[in-house]
Parts: sequence; structure tokens; C-alpha cells
Amino acid sequence: MAVDELVPRTSVADPLTGPGWADEVRALARRRDAVLLAHNYQLPEIQDVADFTGDSLALSRIAAQSEASTIVFCGVHFMAETAKILAPDKTVLIPDAAAGCSLADSITVDQLRAWKAEHPGAVVVSYVNTTAAVKAETDVCCTSSNAVEVVASIPADREVLFLPDQFLGAHVRRELGRENMHVWAGECHVHAGINGATLTRQAQANPDAELFVHPECGCATSALYLAGTGAVPAERVKILSTGGMLDAARESKAASVLVATEVGMLHQLRRAAPEIDFRAVNDRASCRYMKMITPDKLLRALREGRDEVHVDPALAARGRAAVQRMIEIGRPGGGE
Ligand code: 13P
Ligand code: SF4
Repeated sequence: MAVDELVPRTSVADPLTGPGWADEVRALARRRDAVLLAHNYQLPEIQDVADFTGDSLALSRIAAQSEASTIVFCGVHFMAETAKILAPDKTVLIPDAAAGCSLADSITVDQLRAWKAEHPGAVVVSYVNTTAAVKAETDVCCTSSNAVEVVASIPADREVLFLPDQFLGAHVRRELGRENMHVWAGECHVHAGINGATLTRQAQANPDAELFVHPECGCATSALYLAGTGAVPAERVKILSTGGMLDAARESKAASVLVATEVGMLHQLRRAAPEIDFRAVNDRASCRYMKMITPDKLLRALREGRDEVHVDPALAARGRAAVQRMIEIGRPGGGE
């Protein structure tokens, strides 16, 4: 056994955050008049120090409403760009501007223009996981929490181009039974890697568990198949955004839940319902982009005011209406 393994855990500083890290983060944030936002897939210490932790829809709404002059976005780049589109007069910082997204990279603006040219008159629905340039070519954005409602709000006789996630698109098409909806064949490498075979194996090994499945997952269809065949009772299979998982956890009476999404989600779920045994369907499903936001880089962002997020104002102006529709639709007491 190594000597340092004998040192009681409580007597040493946390190797990631060091003594006083959270206090320094909070003090610097106050000095900058900054609000700290963290996505549910962030490292636990980042989630815990943030003013708000949530899914992409909830965080976009907070960014749009916040009175702070600076937003520090602990998430990936498209999320910080979305905040800048919604709040162009605020300073938006991301602790590492290189934190990208494989899903957002799965369609370029030129590909979207070519697709639109093949379907003149179609309504373009883009998942929020897209670049600002793609949003500028979009009619309405959505997130996983309101994708079904967004597509349902489009008149039934209009063709829909849904992009870029094929699994979320398939989920929406299934929910609405909508035939005139074309879906781009993009995917997130993390969620696509949570496949049906793994989910089925885990569900068989844990016959009493509920299943919480993010609609970006490669296993979403298999989850519904398990429910459809009665292999898992239908009421125990839930296709949910990360925010929806937290609501479901608070209401659940289950002793154990299998979670099919990025592993950062487990932290919030365990806080929300400590009595439930939450297990990752695939414990290697970790997003390397989300994990680029480290405690050190958060401190650097607050000390040095970097990395500042800029969106070309003309591009932002063209994408703003689509993003604003997104934050309205599905709002409790508002939207469609
Ligand atoms: P939500 O938090 O909206 O469910 O998004 C999941 C995701 O993959 C973000 O990158
Ligand atoms: Fe993008 Fe997937 Fe990472 Fe979410 S988990 S930020 S969709 S790569």
C-alpha cells in the first residue's frame, strides 16, 4: 500500500480543489458580478460551487433572465454561445473554449443549407447542440426537454427537418407519429455508445430497477422495446432529459434506477434522492468535453476573465428568434 493511502482522507486538502477553492471561486464571482452556471454533466465539485446546475433548457432560461453582468458557463461551447445569443450585452465566459461537442460537430452550416435546398418550405428544428452558424439557419431550436412540444407546435402539413441527433429525432417521430419529419443522421459519441445490448443485460440483471434513459442514447429504442414486450414493465421505463431525470428521481419509489446518460448525472441524482441506488448503464460514458472544465480552469476564468465567448452579432441576430422560441415552448405556465 502506498504511504499516501494511509493518510486519513479528512486531513488532506482535496487534490482537485485545494483548501479554500470554493470560497475563492465564490468571492471572485461576487467581485465580477458573475452568475455561475453548471450543466448536469460537469464534475461534482463544479456542480456544487455553481449558483445553478441544470439541463440545457433550464440553464438557457437562467442565462436569459439573470441580472448579473457576467455569465460563467461551466458546460460546452455551444451552451455558452447560446447564452451569448440570448444575452448579447453580457460578458459570457467559459473556463475552456476548446470544450466542444461531437454532436454539434455532426452538421455544418453548408450541409444544412444544402439539405434545406432539397426541402424548400420545410421548418428547420435544430437541437440546441449546434453551432451559432447552424442556429442562424434555423426556425426553432429545442432541447431534449421540449423537443416533442417544439415539433408538435409546427402545423401538421409542414415538412420538418430535424437535426442533428438521430436518436432524439427518432424519439420525437415515435411520440408524435409524424411522417413528414426528416432526421439528420448525427449522434453524440457518448450517448450513442450506451447501446441496447448493454441496457438489456443490465435490465435483466436488475429486474426491479427503473430505467431512466436520455433520448440521445443509442439504447432508447431498445428501452421502449423492453417495455413493449413486457420484459420491463412499461411504467418503469422513462425517456427523459437530464432535468426530467431529476424530477422523476424525486418522485420515484424505486429502490434502484439504471441511468442511461453521461455519468456526471449521477451526482445530482444521488443528491436529489439519496435513498435510491442509481447505477450507470455504461460507467465509461463520460464526455471528455464536459470534463475539460476543471476546478483550476474555473478559477483561472474568474481571475483572468477568460475564455470570453463572442458570437458574430449578425449571426446572433439571425439565430436569436429560434433560441427564444425554444425557451418559451414548454415553459410552465407559458409557451405552447
Ligand atoms: P440535456 O441536459 O438538455 O438533457 O442535454 C444533454 C446533453 O447531452 C447536453 O450536451
Ligand atoms: Fe455533446 Fe455528447 Fe458531450 Fe453532450 S455528452 S456535450 S451531446 S459530446
